[in-house]
Amino acid sequence: MKLQRVLQYAKYLLSESIEKGEIAVDATAGNGHDTLFLAELVGEDGHVYAFDIQQEAVDATIAQLKENGLEHRATVILDGHEHIEKYVTQQIAGAVFNLGYLPGADHGIITKSETTIRAIESLLNLLKINGLIVLVIYYGHEGGKEERDAVIDFVSQLPQKNYNVLRYEFINQKNDPPFIIALEKKK
Ligand SMILES: C[S@@+](CC[C@H](N)C(=O)[O-])C[C@H]1O[C@@H](n2cnc3c(N)ncnc32)[C@H](O)[C@@H]1O
Repeated sequence: MKLQRVLQYAKYLLSESIEKGEIAVDATAGNGHDTLFLAELVGEDGHVYAFDIQQEAVDATIAQLKENGLEHRATVILDGHEHIEKYVTQQIAGAVFNLGYLPGADHGIITKSETTIRAIESLLNLLKINGLIVLVIYYGHEGGKEERDAVIDFVSQLPQKNYNVLRYEFINQKNDPPFIIALEKKK
């Protein structure tokens, strides 16, 4: 038995909630690793909507999909995830966020609590029963702790009768390691 690492566990959660033919959202496309993973999960008949505010991230994500021959399974959108409802109206099976900055790019361009929370609210409206929103929270950078605290405050107050809210975290690691928040919509 080995405890799953944070990124591994995030993938496991997504793979448990998303089935072939369904719709999934990557709220922070970045270099496209999660978009590609979701494109594999939804299969030929499903679709992924991926968002990022940086052209460089959109380009990297499209390149990642093309390299794997899966560009037809995803729509990569240069816009903030707070505008998700402008683009996605169908029910979604799952969504993922990686909060923070794009590795290898401008560390000043970060996700922010207000827009992150607005996006979570939109996604909760679109989420199927038993669907999951998985947030991987990186908070070691400037502004990261403020976003972490605001997100925790928001998700802690989601009504228990409608949502299960999980925190998965290694609490003895140094250097502000990322942790997971998973939101499950109940019946
Ligand atoms: C930690 S990175 C994502 C890493 C990505 N999952 C990967 O596989 O490479 C966070 C990304 O969120 C993006 N971002 C920041 N604010 C955003 C917003 N309001 N809407 C969508 N993306 C945003 C940043 O541009 C950055 O690329």
